Amino acid sequence: MCGIFGYVGADDAAPQLVLAGLKKLEYRGYDSWGIAARQATLAPSRLLVEKHVGKIGQATTSLRESRAALGHTRWATHGGVTEANAHPHLDCQGRLAVIHNGIIENHAELRRALRETGHTFVSQTDTEVVCHLLEEELIREGQDSGEPCTRLIGALMSVFRRLDGLSAIAVLDPQLECIAVAKNGSPLVLGWGADGNYLASDSSALLDHTRKLTFLEDGQAALVTSDTIVVYDVSSAEAVPEPRVWDITWEQEIDSLDGHAHYMAKEIAEQPAVLRRLAAQQSEAAQRLADTIMQASTVHLVGCGSAAHAARCGEYLFSRVACRQANCVVGSEFGYLEDFLNERSVVVGLSQSGETIDLLESMKSARLRHAHLSALVNVEGSSLYRLVDDPILLGAGPERCVLATKSFTAKLAVLLMAAYAARGRIEAGRALVEQAADEIQSLLSNGRVEQLRSLARRIAGAEHLYVIGRGPSYPMALEAALKIKEVSYLHAEGFAGGELKHGVIALIDDGTPCMVLAPNDETFRAILSGAEEIKARGGYIIGISPVASDVWDEHIVVADVGEAASIVNAVPPQVLAYELALTRGLDPDKPRNLAKSVTVK
Ligand code: AGP
Repeated sequence: MCGIFGYVGADDAAPQLVLAGLKKLEYRGYDSWGIAARQATLAPSRLLVEKHVGKIGQATTSLRESRAALGHTRWATHGGVTEANAHPHLDCQGRLAVIHNGIIENHAELRRALRETGHTFVSQTDTEVVCHLLEEELIREGQDSGEPCTRLIGALMSVFRRLDGLSAIAVLDPQLECIAVAKNGSPLVLGWGADGNYLASDSSALLDHTRKLTFLEDGQAALVTSDTIVVYDVSSAEAVPEPRVWDITWEQEIDSLDGHAHYMAKEIAEQPAVLRRLAAQQSEAAQRLADTIMQASTVHLVGCGSAAHAARCGEYLFSRVACRQANCVVGSEFGYLEDFLNERSVVVGLSQSGETIDLLESMKSARLRHAHLSALVNVEGSSLYRLVDDPILLGAGPERCVLATKSFTAKLAVLLMAAYAARGRIEAGRALVEQAADEIQSLLSNGRVEQLRSLARRIAGAEHLYVIGRGPSYPMALEAALKIKEVSYLHAEGFAGGELKHGVIALIDDGTPCMVLAPNDETFRAILSGAEEIKARGGYIIGISPVASDVWDEHIVVADVGEAASIVNAVPPQVLAYELALTRGLDPDKPRNLAKSVTVK
């Protein structure tokens, strides 16, 4: 979940280059950051290191000129948020700088063994074991076993073979103008530049420098020097002849704030345009997905977090519109539910980043069972995009806020179009997506944002908030609660409306805010009764519905858009969550303890 960036080349502003790269990767983890650089003016060259707790923000680096540097922005897995635990980590001699993204599952026993041989640890991280293992390995190999850079990559590969878990690791040795890397599971991309070579956790941080990228595959390592990159297979330590170099053509969409105060506000506002673009450009892909699903024996829609909620919406849409069963399964659980998969099964992975490790692991094991793999994914070139047989791009543009907003409604739009395509009615599906785009446009522009802002002020002091919905609105209730939880830290929970009387209603107290998703469909009457039962126990009812009712204490009016109701009903809770975060003085783009793509288990 951390961000890694490195450079070796002719440009002696490597520390500044690396800092700029880390700023682009900060959505991957932002509790602390650090940079190591090679100080060439001293003989022998020495390492210069700076580490800081907190977000990078507008920080500059104090490191002086250098042509080789490595940086890291952290999402803590082992050890608190301290300067000592920030990366890079050093060996006992302070000769090697190591940064890491992932988890070393056997770090405790490695640490114990290293301590017994006299190594001193200064951090609580799992990562630091790599520094000391490398130190031992290089001593063991001895000075005269081959060219120094080759010796470093050799040492890293043999250390990497001893590590359990999923990781990407990079090592800078200041006496050598090279960076050695190895990866398994966590993403790592290499950039072939004109003035030097680069590495980063994802391609978006490299496209300002080069469009020639190599995506390191699981079980590979690489030696990055100023004039070339050599890729190796870790298990055999053999060089990989002609590693694939992608010539990236996709547009690097500008991810500026565009005049908005936060990325969350910008990305909420972009939804009408994203939906119209999908309706115009992705009907062919939706038809392809529909055909694949209709020919399959079993269908599984898989995702994590918001993507799991979108998958559950897909389950309802395919049942209601296409009369076709499509199971929704949470990505981190699918691996335990795959035994029946075969070559006639279809698994559709849903992911904004395309790097969520729980989902990738499940998709890889589905691949081993010969299932057909499709994906709805927002990042071209991501691991999921490259893994599946049929990647469908959401085209929502860069999503920088940790919260999924436009990528969520984009997934619903593709699933809705595919469900209609499965019935040979793709045009009806497209028309509904366009209708939803129009309604969201009007929702964001005529007074309802102000209504949600004053509602946020009214309930900002609440301890709990509940969201209920029936049928296709049940996953939307889960999504609404997740948005509010993630960004305002208010305890919010979503429930299937029918579950109220089976225990949940005990949570209702005087003034407890309860959001009720009530589209004008067959669920309306039953969900209104549920709202009445909550109101009878003092709940404060926030109705999101095209239908007026005395039950609503606060009525957020939305247009009746039929099966596209879920797309529209996603937006008022997004806006309320945003306004709650501002009212509570919180950063809506980088909520505590979270990161945009979850690359550790
Ligand atoms: C949603 O707001 C969260 N950021 C999180 O639940 C997210 O949806 C989940 O981590 C899945 O991410 P992905 O879509 O990039 O796979």
